[in-house]
Amino acid sequence: MNHYHITSEEQYRKAYKESVKNPADFWSDIATNFKWRKKWDSVLEYDFSIPEIAWFKGAQLNITENCIDRHLPERGTKTALLFEPNNPNEPAQHITYQELHDKVCQMANVLKQKGVKKGDRICLYLPMIPELAIAILACARIGAIHSVVFAGFSAVALAARINDSNCSIVITSDGAFRGNKTINLKEIVDKALQECKSVRTVLLVNRINNNCSITDGRDEWLQPLLDTAETSCVPEIMNAEDPLFILYTSGSTGTPKGMVHTTAGYMVYSAFTFKNVFQYEEDDVYWCTADIGWITGHSYIVYGPLANGATSVLFEGVPSYPDYGRFWEIVQKHAVTLFYTAPTAIRALAKQGKEWTEKYNLSSLKTLGSVGEPINEEAWEWYDDHVGKNRCPIVDTWWQTETGGILISSLAGVTKQIPTFATLPMPGIQPCLMDDNGTEISFWKAEGRLCIKFPWPSIARTIWGNHERYKNTYFTAYTNTYFTGDGALRDADGNYRITGRVDDVVIVSGHNLGTAPIEDAINEHPMVAESALVGFPHDIKGNALYGFVTLKGGEGTAALKKEINALISEKIGPIAKLDKIQFTSGLPKTRSGKIMRRILRKIATNEIDALGDISTLLNPEVVEQIISEKK
Ligand code: WT7
Repeated sequence: MNHYHITSEEQYRKAYKESVKNPADFWSDIATNFKWRKKWDSVLEYDFSIPEIAWFKGAQLNITENCIDRHLPERGTKTALLFEPNNPNEPAQHITYQELHDKVCQMANVLKQKGVKKGDRICLYLPMIPELAIAILACARIGAIHSVVFAGFSAVALAARINDSNCSIVITSDGAFRGNKTINLKEIVDKALQECKSVRTVLLVNRINNNCSITDGRDEWLQPLLDTAETSCVPEIMNAEDPLFILYTSGSTGTPKGMVHTTAGYMVYSAFTFKNVFQYEEDDVYWCTADIGWITGHSYIVYGPLANGATSVLFEGVPSYPDYGRFWEIVQKHAVTLFYTAPTAIRALAKQGKEWTEKYNLSSLKTLGSVGEPINEEAWEWYDDHVGKNRCPIVDTWWQTETGGILISSLAGVTKQIPTFATLPMPGIQPCLMDDNGTEISFWKAEGRLCIKFPWPSIARTIWGNHERYKNTYFTAYTNTYFTGDGALRDADGNYRITGRVDDVVIVSGHNLGTAPIEDAINEHPMVAESALVGFPHDIKGNALYGFVTLKGGEGTAALKKEINALISEKIGPIAKLDKIQFTSGLPKTRSGKIMRRILRKIATNEIDALGDISTLLNPEVVEQIISEKK
């Protein structure tokens, strides 16, 4: 039986069972819903101990044929991308599947003219405008590997990402509109490229009519090139395991990790989960508010929806511009049926009161989704009451950049929802909980470290240029198991509730921030000796960052705090700024010199009674001092 669309709880249970009993049959059935140039020789070959994972080996395809061409006979005039600009007075753009096809081919042809070959890395540093989705698909059309860098990252962060994967071309824009601000993106790119030897060409989208500087022989406006390019481009035939894209995510230590996703498995899984989690139907208008610079946008604005022939809304702006009614105005204007956002946005909007949700007609909505961090009960209730009017299922979707698609979630209106629980694994996903000794917990009701025992089609295959790090980060903590870095609770019925990161990653406003690179940025300040960062609860952002900083000398002033945050903005981006900075004379350390972040975390969250035994520290006296000086 083909389970591509699961429509009842019973069917979910059956599909799940089959997917575990016989993964190869299950996924090859699902895969028949796509267009293949050549069928696979084997569905799955894997060995987590190497680690090595291959899905649909031997198969050939092009993902853009699946996301665009195959829809043309029936959906040529259907809107594929619905672009809603930052400025509500600028008209929305309905880009049909046929137009998307033509635009993607034109962009692909321009890239080819610029010498791009299969396997080349192309960096996309763009605001949320149609060109970003088009550039992604254009790369995929010709087999180039896209590396999208979120346009909120700084020049230093951008340069590090470009250099890590040796991108030859950067596609960017003269600038970006964001609420009442304009951002000079080109200036950031210019600064970044001073450090990047590999980039030979910069293609520029004109978005804000900014008279930006042009470096001769390197920079070129894109539009004139597109205007003369052919609207057809033969798709490059890709092998199932050819890389589709690289997307950087922060790790608990060191440089960002370039997660590599490959073609066939990623396509099958992102499409399958989109269909089932949201219970997508042909006439839906689907809107995911994430930025395409994150995995959520890759899988659930671009690839998953388009693979299903859906209409996907692309919003350039922010929820607060021109006022806090903007999201709801857009829902009304485009009669959005499926709405997917983050808890941090829900909390920020809830704070503005219900007048905004009441001002607009939200009756088109059928299903609501949440992603990026645990959703607290209060936010869940507000979402349910004021947005869904208690008649829309809410799917709390747990997943990661590394997983490529949603791993744990209810299926809208099909399986049970439980506030604050992501609930049940998708078919094919075999979660387990590990105890402190690294043994799998065998009973249902338990709390532990969340791992996945078996590969799924869209798991990242490696870290670009560093397979050893891939192995160490995900496959060494527990034998033959993928470690997620999250903690979770499981109830007696097998429902999962994600409790948060158990490593040195802090999720701030749904953004995954590794503490180490931020500490490195702080430590570059000439007055700073050492620093340690921890997360602490914040009523809108979920978590905020608390920095404990020791100085080489001089005084810890308010001005210095500003300088530290400016440095973080410069090295990483404004999203990584600290909410609190406490200057201290020392940091608690083990006898081997390791900073005890666990203790600092307790101090930051006011759990002073739960510090545990600190007598074995190298410098227990410093703990008392930090507590007494905390404001
Ligand atoms: C981390 C992954 C998933 C795409 C966006 C973030 C946290 C994500 C949930 C959720 C609880 C969640 C986890 C995860 N997270 N979704 N529904 N409930 N926590 O991708 O930047 O790779 O971050 O986000 O801690 O490990 P990411």
